Amino acid sequence: MVTIFDHPLITHKLALMRMEETGHKDFRENLDEIASLMAYEVLRDLPMKEVHITTPMGPCTTKMMDGEVILVPILRAGMGLVNGIMDLVPTAKIGFMGLYRDEETLEPVEYFAKFPKELSDGVVLVLDPMLATGGSSIAAVTKVKERGAKKIRMVSLVGAPEGVKAFTEAHPDVDLYLAALDDHLNEIGYIVPGLGDAGDRIYGTK
Ligand code: PRP
Ligand code: URA
Repeated sequence: MVTIFDHPLITHKLALMRMEETGHKDFRENLDEIASLMAYEVLRDLPMKEVHITTPMGPCTTKMMDGEVILVPILRAGMGLVNGIMDLVPTAKIGFMGLYRDEETLEPVEYFAKFPKELSDGVVLVLDPMLATGGSSIAAVTKVKERGAKKIRMVSLVGAPEGVKAFTEAHPDVDLYLAALDDHLNEIGYIVPGLGDAGDRIYGTK
């Protein structure tokens, strides 16, 4: 399933991020806020368990979250989605997937991977703001599957049609969440209109 968020707050904040004059501080702040808004919906069907508690008025049977949420940001830009989700789920564990995209071939190259020991019971959110060719996201989801993850969701911000097609063909069992579906990829594999190089814009490296 592909979900494209059509929410005024998300679209407005994403427009601010897209503007070329937006600097890294404002870019990051808007990314944090969008990540929280998206997480609220992405985690809507988290497993719950019944609990018996006592309020100041007496006994109460209610529900609390059951099980772990594990965030797997694709370095570097995926780190930009972590804080906004952690604001809502401070107990989340974090794994790291180090991938960069070879500028010539556009193929993902792995340079680091470190995950919590057990991925099979939790809900795993793989994070990367950009789904361009889809190569990086496909590789990261393949990796967490190899490590035992069963309940996986891919959370991105901006997708290109080419990347969405590739991702859904490679991982039809993984739900994909986007803030926007853009027009196309250009000749060097950048999303148009997109927002430029997400890593550079988050970290101010260009
Ligand atoms: C960017 C982006 C994604 C990837 C998307 O990372 O953050 O990980 O490209 O492209 P794809 O869908 O075609 O694979 P980049 O390689 O620039 O690394 P960085 O985040 O370290 O800058
Ligand atoms: N990576 C980015 O950061 N931006 C794009 O548009 C494509 C890949």
